Amino acid sequence: MKAIILAGGAGSRLYPLTQVSSKQLQAVFDKPMIYYPLTVLMASGVRELCVISTPDDLPRYRRLLGDGGQWGISVEYREQAKPEGIAQAFLIAGDFIGSDNVILMLGDNIFSGGDDFPRAVSSFSDGATIFAYHVKDPERYGVVEFDRAGKAISIEEKPQHPKSSYAVPGVYIYDNTVLDIARNIKPSARGELEITDVNLEYLKQGKLLVHRLSRGFAWLDAGTSTALHEASSYIEAIERRQGIKIGCPEEAALVRGFITIDQFHALIKNMPVCEYSDYLRGVADEWHRLQGDGQ
Ligand code: TTP
Repeated sequence: MKAIILAGGAGSRLYPLTQVSSKQLQAVFDKPMIYYPLTVLMASGVRELCVISTPDDLPRYRRLLGDGGQWGISVEYREQAKPEGIAQAFLIAGDFIGSDNVILMLGDNIFSGGDDFPRAVSSFSDGATIFAYHVKDPERYGVVEFDRAGKAISIEEKPQHPKSSYAVPGVYIYDNTVLDIARNIKPSARGELEITDVNLEYLKQGKLLVHRLSRGFAWLDAGTSTALHEASSYIEAIERRQGIKIGCPEEAALVRGFITIDQFHALIKNMPVCEYSDYLRGVADEWHRLQGDGQ
């Protein structure tokens, strides 16, 4: 399974923050926003990733994430010249996807809790899997209606009269036929290749599965200044209470066995003295304790 993180877009709702830096590089409490989707993907066992962003912002992502080797993954980069739709990602990154299945995550979606994504990735075989999250105000989102077996019945963008209370978060798993589907859809009235049109095609073929996210799961979107602040507060509250960090790629790399404990120590050595490196030192101590090697 390959993964794409879509980190372009205009970010106009975050003006003036986005005048000099991309939305997905803004801080969500103590980390850049893109660390959160990246860590979810790593925790799901995905090791080959592609970041898509604007020509302006791409160099900054390269500086932040490098080639991914430090975390035992590979990260490639592709430009989206203009924000012409989420589904354009499959045209831009077609050569990266090759003949594999692919999971697409929007770079401004923040998740916390549960093992839904690792389970959905490891059990994926073909067709498409989207996710469903219970919300109070479904009319603000893409809304999916599904049966008891998790098969999608309908999917609608921002409907006035939603058929369910389940919104579709920005994570989509597709088999390789998504490349053909994306090539054949037409831009919408707003001039974008819509991800909903991709999902509707899978729905038409009876291949759109819906994975309902569990109750304890948090899905936060960070598209407006208020939502960004709320996401930061949420992450801060959980991290302070539990003493664990959410969205920490170094930790995910260690836990998944993408890097060794020696490589983990080497990463910490290259960091300044700060809360983040203190935390990782604690993770290493716990790792040694569990191994019983008393280092
Ligand atoms: P949106 O939040 O819908 O758009 P935006 O980021 O441009 O923000 P605004 O509405 O404030 O101008 O985009 C959702 C996510 O998808 C976000 O992470 C940006 C990304 N995206 C792209 O990378 N390319 C695109 O063409 C589109 C439409 C979105």
